[in-house]
Amino acid sequence: MEVQILLCLCVLLHCQKLTSSFTGTILYSTYNAIMEFDIDTRNVTVLLEQSEYVYAMDYDYKNRFIYFPRYNTHDIVRFAYPSKNTTLQTVIQSLSGPTGIAVDPTNGHIYWTDYNTNRLSRCNLDGNNVNVLSSLNSPLVIRLDLTNRWIYIVERFLGISKSRFDVAKQQNIVNFTSARVDSMDIDTDEHRLYWINGEGDITSSKDDGSDVKTIHSTNVAANYFAIGVVGSYIYYGNAYNQLLMVSKTPGSAPTVLYNDTRRIESIFVLNSPGMSITIFS
Ligand SMILES: *[C@@H]1O[C@H](CO)[C@@H](O)[C@H](O)[C@H]1NC(C)=O
Ligand SMILES: *[C@@H]1O[C@H](CO)[C@@H](O)[C@H](O)[C@H]1NC(C)=O
Ligand SMILES: *[C@@H]1O[C@H](CO)[C@@H](O)[C@H](O)[C@H]1NC(C)=O
Ligand SMILES: *[C@@H]1O[C@H](CO)[C@@H](O)[C@H](O)[C@H]1NC(C)=O
Repeated sequence: MEVQILLCLCVLLHCQKLTSSFTGTILYSTYNAIMEFDIDTRNVTVLLEQSEYVYAMDYDYKNRFIYFPRYNTHDIVRFAYPSKNTTLQTVIQSLSGPTGIAVDPTNGHIYWTDYNTNRLSRCNLDGNNVNVLSSLNSPLVIRLDLTNRWIYIVERFLGISKSRFDVAKQQNIVNFTSARVDSMDIDTDEHRLYWINGEGDITSSKDDGSDVKTIHSTNVAANYFAIGVVGSYIYYGNAYNQLLMVSKTPGSAPTVLYNDTRRIESIFVLNSPGMSITIFS
């Protein structure tokens, strides 16, 4: 009996690996909930209800917690995932305006950007040992490339900077020329960055900032806070509370996946390498 179960798990794990670039789960936040979107079935379910602006989420795949900052509550919280118990645990309190978050499970750190104090800070996964790492200009988004060990930060009105995890030398790799940018994701497979500016241009560059190209323009000026890149597709939220996907090939037409009732404030993709977790849910 036990052998059969083990065998079954092995087969499942194997299948998961083979299809990992096509399957997975996307989490997205709105003002009143964190939602789970199944890429295969396109099923949308409420993961937990809450009522705060959540501009970013990240996953500690080692200890299995989703972390997110709450801009107006001035804190960072986490909940177990996957789990039936999504009770929020407070990690760190009394912040000013936390917007971006990134977890480095290897070193046991969380990084966050505070939009109001213009700071990048780091602490341990339990909230201890807080360190201010640098002062920036309007830092809104932070994403880590865990494979190649790079930090990418979007300074909303300035550009994208890149540094090693010790933040010793920060290099500016993209200057925003026209509109501000509210969202960004990394495609570690193809070594590219994807972002959306306030004019609705979904833009991409290599991860050294070269080869900038526009993938798609919504032609609607708005805050585009939510973007996530999976396989051949870019998932994003628009000004009409919709979750959409568009192919990375420039000039492709987007598909509406879901009409929500609130603006989508952030998207987090759960199918990065080493995150074969769906079989445990
Ligand atoms: C969508 O999710 C709901 C709730 O978990 C479930 O009852 C339903 O069967 C799912 N539908 C599909 C098509 O997977
Ligand atoms: C759910 O998780 C919270 C936070 O970890 C914990 O305090 C609580 O006891 C858990 N509830 C159940 C029913 O397990
Ligand atoms: C961005 O602009 C600054 C100031 O003009 C300049 O020094 C820097 O080289 C530019 N960076 C890129 C990647 O174009
Ligand atoms: C979203 O709403 C539009 C109308 O506003 C409708 O045409 C479309 O079918 C809806 N899409 C989904 C996936 O529900």
